[in-house]
Amino acid sequence: MDPSLNTEIKRLMALGLHLRCAEGGLAETAALTLEINRLKKERRAVICAHVYQTPDITLGIGDLVGDSYKLADGCRKTGADTIVFCGVNFMAETAKILNPSKKVYVPSAKAGCSLSEAINAADVIKLRSAYPGLPVITYINTSAEVKAESDCIVTSANAEKVLRRMYEKHDKVIFIPDRYMGANLAAALGKTPGRDIILWNGACVVHEKFDASLIKIYRKKYPGLAVLAHAECPPELIAEVDFMGGTGDMMRYIENTGAAAYLLVTECGFGELAKLRFPQKNFIAMCRLCPYMKSVTLGSVLALLKDPSPAEVMVPPAIAGRAKKAIEKMFELAA
Ligand code: 13P
Ligand code: SF4
Repeated sequence: MDPSLNTEIKRLMALGLHLRCAEGGLAETAALTLEINRLKKERRAVICAHVYQTPDITLGIGDLVGDSYKLADGCRKTGADTIVFCGVNFMAETAKILNPSKKVYVPSAKAGCSLSEAINAADVIKLRSAYPGLPVITYINTSAEVKAESDCIVTSANAEKVLRRMYEKHDKVIFIPDRYMGANLAAALGKTPGRDIILWNGACVVHEKFDASLIKIYRKKYPGLAVLAHAECPPELIAEVDFMGGTGDMMRYIENTGAAAYLLVTECGFGELAKLRFPQKNFIAMCRLCPYMKSVTLGSVLALLKDPSPAEVMVPPAIAGRAKKAIEKMFELAA
């Protein structure tokens, strides 16, 4: 066997990746990660990987791994010429908006997001004329065009803080497009949907379908269970959990607590990564796959590094400029 392949297999084993590979699969994975990491250096590229990606991506090739906020912030600070975004389009568009002179690529043509598809720029313009004077607070899971029509962007990591700041100056705000996250934030802030916060009818196809009634059953079966759910879950589920937040907050909660077991109500890649990062902790499986996130694979990353041209992310400068203002407002208010 090629000695460099042997070394790569050992590196992946030390990361625990053999635990999730069928027999023979690790050598196949190692051949791909080896070649990707070589080409990445050659192209002076940084690989950003959202925590919903599979661990062969997050751990095997990711340079910057985290939630939407950490990745957006990290992209602002990277010195690399090229950003390969193992995540979904809205994340890569955000990276391009923040780094117009860099090349940004997404290794899949199918990396959309149901929230991002739930609203367009014309919808936001109509909302503004229906509710004149109200600020539009927009979840980062939206297109560049929608961001351009917004006053401030939020991610799951800072939505509550940013909204609190907004309510210092406004009695009422518009929050788009996730109706569940909006309702969960309203509950956390003691606000009433319809009266204090205008919501849009978008939802995440992954988080809206979790069954809240299962949580009581799991709690009986696993005493001492800590239940963590992403803020995109419906309020009736959030009412049953110990902790609601974004993926960054959920990972920190796991790191800083000593529960008998953890039930993670979110996309499956998160739990896979948590298990490898905290092998001494117990995790109970309850997750759903995001088809958009999972359309990125090691194979598609390698194909992109060999021929990047079809996968370049472009945002028209007029839209990028306005969207950037709304994203920068988030960095200012979240600081
Ligand atoms: P986070 O920013 O919490 O990682 O969320 C991104 C996302 O798409 C959740 O579905
Ligand atoms: Fe979009 Fe939901 Fe997938 Fe996140 S998990 S990218 S919100 S569809």
